[in-house]
Amino acid sequence: MLHLITYPHPTLRYPAKPIARVDAHLKSLVGEMFDIMYEHRGVGLAATQVNLPIRLFVANPSGEKETGPELVFINPVIQRATGSAEAEEGCLSLPGINATVKRNKSVKINAYGLDGTEINAEVDGFLARIIQHELDHLDGVLFIDRVPEQNRMQIQDELSGFESTFEMKRKAGLILSDEKIFEELKAWEAKYC
Ligand code: NI
Repeated sequence: MLHLITYPHPTLRYPAKPIARVDAHLKSLVGEMFDIMYEHRGVGLAATQVNLPIRLFVANPSGEKETGPELVFINPVIQRATGSAEAEEGCLSLPGINATVKRNKSVKINAYGLDGTEINAEVDGFLARIIQHELDHLDGVLFIDRVPEQNRMQIQDELSGFESTFEMKRKAGLILSDEKIFEELKAWEAKYC
């Protein structure tokens, strides 16, 4: 059973490893990721956000289960990125925080689908932003890292709040130690990477 993890959980800073094989269990995990994404009203979710250290993310720009396309990107690589656009972003791992982030306007992405089909697509607009945000997650980068220094002050208090809540939960035994988390990540890597 997967769970959404929130800042400052260490897995959010862990660079995910390429996926070497897809099995029935991984397919069911992807289904769980979509469920978690819809439940939290998100439009994208990276594997690291559910404590999986593997290069995979899911997206549905509509945010509605019955509406838009359900996209799965395995081992995604941005091959070309052009233009520049600013827009407000949020993140399921940083609930309640929003900030303007500058991204590329269009990206050329290469990846694989769940059935092994190669994806080569030129994407722009909202989906291009989602792809860049989720791919950042797989490299251990959060959107707050891309907020310019002069706007960081506004979110610093909220981040400190997340940090003290995390410490309290860990003291209460609700969150594993870094060592135990690392062991879990290594076990997933041994299975899929
Ligand atoms: Ni996010």
